[in-house]
Amino acid sequence: MRTDHPADAGALTASVVSDALRRVPYPGLTRDLVSFGMVEHVSVCDARVKVTLGLHTRDAIVIAQLEASIDAALRPLGAASVAVDVVAPKPAPAALPAKRGTPDPWADQVRLARARHVIAVGAGKGGVGKSTVAVNLALALARDGLRAGLLDADIYGPSLPILLGIEDGASRVRMSEDKHILPLEAHGVPIISFGFFLGEGSPAIWRGPMVSKAVKQFARGVAWPELDVLVVDLPPGTGDVPLSLAQAVALSGAVIVTQPPRVAVAEARKAADMFHALEVPLLGIVENMSGPFGRGAGETVAGELTIPFLGEIPFDEAIVAEGDVGVPTMIARPGSEAGMAFDHLARAVAASLGWERVEENLAQAES
Ligand SMILES: Nc1ncnc2c1ncn2[C@@H]1O[C@H](COP(=O)(O)OP(=O)(O)O)[C@@H](O)[C@H]1O
Ligand SMILES: [Mg+2]
Repeated sequence: MRTDHPADAGALTASVVSDALRRVPYPGLTRDLVSFGMVEHVSVCDARVKVTLGLHTRDAIVIAQLEASIDAALRPLGAASVAVDVVAPKPAPAALPAKRGTPDPWADQVRLARARHVIAVGAGKGGVGKSTVAVNLALALARDGLRAGLLDADIYGPSLPILLGIEDGASRVRMSEDKHILPLEAHGVPIISFGFFLGEGSPAIWRGPMVSKAVKQFARGVAWPELDVLVVDLPPGTGDVPLSLAQAVALSGAVIVTQPPRVAVAEARKAADMFHALEVPLLGIVENMSGPFGRGAGETVAGELTIPFLGEIPFDEAIVAEGDVGVPTMIARPGSEAGMAFDHLARAVAASLGWERVEENLAQAES
């Protein structure tokens, strides 16, 4: 703890407690409970503290971790006892007047009018092939007859312009008359990337609220055509972007990308914890670059987390070259082992969103 001295009990007020809770992260994440909007109520009576949390999770381990970290944060401040109460989060926050000064960050979440489903592709770790998977997933969905779009929300390292061969996107992107961003098109799929707008600015130094505002404007401000699925490529990790995205637009689900080595697995678990905390359904986990570095880790994590395993994409050196020239595998070699693996992934994702085999005649075309 960063507390210098145990304060005397007289100084312990509800606002001191609330401030202390701003330094307590949700288990596995860097985000704190207060900014998550999870702290419903704090009461202090004779140094006895009661904290009421509005949580969706009923996971006993998560709750026990929360109790322990809240206790550890408050004892040094002079709390004689700490009780943590978990209640269901308040419904329909928009209908409630903002009494406590902290506006509910979830209150203005919207459903994107033009996109039936918005799904996020995330990973705990960079370099696992998240962007490659996002691009080929969208192209495979499109190939199966769904109207798919791509949103590159990786503000720290947008790579879809390169992967799709539209590095000149920044100079081509236009706004509509009513100030909406008009998507570009690559390989038949509408796409918008943060990379088109960053210029010289470096979001690496942006503070949380700036990221949140930018992501919200970006997620909502695109004039998409009618879409069945909008695939969002997230930056790696469990930072502000996924949180802001989930608070800005309703997500139908998330796909987690992992790699075979065990180190990647712990990271995948963190990503899963985050989506769980954000109440974004996990559509499943996909293992990328299976083969030379091992295989099976994705399936293991899926089993541990009891979420679907969506399959494995083999390690294939040609994928690197295809990314470099902007012609993704689903376009360059749809019939390759990797191409078929992306197609298999797309079918699994489509099925989890409620679509069965989309085009009957695909079966004939393939045989
Ligand atoms: N299945 C694969 N086999 C071989 N190389 C891959 C595969 N998937 C991705 N790559 C390569 O790995 C690198 C990182 O991929 P990328 O999609 O940019 O990862 P991320 O978005 O997770 O940072 C790229 O050079 C990409 O071409
Ligand atoms: Mg990427």
